[in-house]
Amino acid sequence: MTDETIPNIPLLYGTSIPQLGFGTYQIEADDAERAVLEAPELGYRHIDTARIYGNEEGVGRALAASGIPRDELYVTTKLWNDDQGAGRASEVLDASLERLGLDYVDLYLIHWPVPTVDQYVATWADFPALRESGRTRSIGVCNFHEDHLERLISETGEVPAVNQIEVHPLYVREELRAFCAERGIVVEAWSPIARAAAALFDQPVLAEIAAKHGRTIAQVVLRWHLQLGNVIFPKTNSVDRMRENLDLFGFELAADEMAAISALDLGDEGRVGPSSLTFGAPRD
Ligand SMILES: NC(=O)c1ccc[n+]([C@@H]2O[C@H](COP(=O)([O-])OP(=O)(O)OC[C@H]3O[C@@H](n4cnc5c(N)ncnc54)[C@H](OP(=O)(O)O)[C@@H]3O)[C@@H](O)[C@H]2O)c1
Repeated sequence: MTDETIPNIPLLYGTSIPQLGFGTYQIEADDAERAVLEAPELGYRHIDTARIYGNEEGVGRALAASGIPRDELYVTTKLWNDDQGAGRASEVLDASLERLGLDYVDLYLIHWPVPTVDQYVATWADFPALRESGRTRSIGVCNFHEDHLERLISETGEVPAVNQIEVHPLYVREELRAFCAERGIVVEAWSPIARAAAALFDQPVLAEIAAKHGRTIAQVVLRWHLQLGNVIFPKTNSVDRMRENLDLFGFELAADEMAAISALDLGDEGRVGPSSLTFGAPRD
């Protein structure tokens, strides 16, 4: 397996992103260097981290130790909720770059909209200058709903290159994905296998499809994302599962299999993460 088999998806403003990468949420700071060093050795080139994961230093050390040239890697990090507000993003990005030991990231994201605090438009207004400074190649957001995106675009004129949102077969988000597609916003699907929840992994239809293709349930679900056009970066601490999650290119799901997987959608009931409408609200 090499990166050559992983498609690159074009992003707004002339860049592109490897469709499959490695996620690092819940990889502990003192384990990040070991875990993330395995990933490029197996063929991963795209790594997703965030300030709040507390592992940027370990991720950076692992990428340096991998010996892979910087321009062959794709690194994303994110601005955390308490760093939102006008005039703050530049120094916050610099601190992430310092921890990562990098001159630039490929993608810098606002982590949550936190609409109850209502600073996401002011935060976003500073993002184009970060891209123009060369410290990030692309800019985008996470967990934004249609109305948050509408406000960003109408109030700043700047369309995010990506929206990183929870998507998996229990939470398919057809309308939001279509809204993003119409505006050229690429969807990155977080928790792509719903954190291996039994509610997903125990679905008989997935077992049937997996058996038919001689694949695992995780591989079938990840393949479903690729065929939908989602960018994904499943997380695992296991080298065997890293290999399994990368091996998605030797088979194809038929249209009826894609539809059967999408039919597992439970809407909001299927979420494994928090709601974007309330997450990050200040506590009383
Ligand atoms: N922007 C956001 O707000 C946001 C939120 C959440 C996540 N994310 C990003 O998205 C990435 C992925 O999401 P996630 O980590 O929440 O969930 P996920 O990738 O859907 O699932 C990770 C869980 O699944 C297990 N797993 C991984 N591969 C497996 C396989 N092949 N078979 C069975 N179990 C497997 C892992 O356990 P082991 O480690 O034991 O293998 C881990 O418990 C994160 O790491 C992070 O980079 C972003």
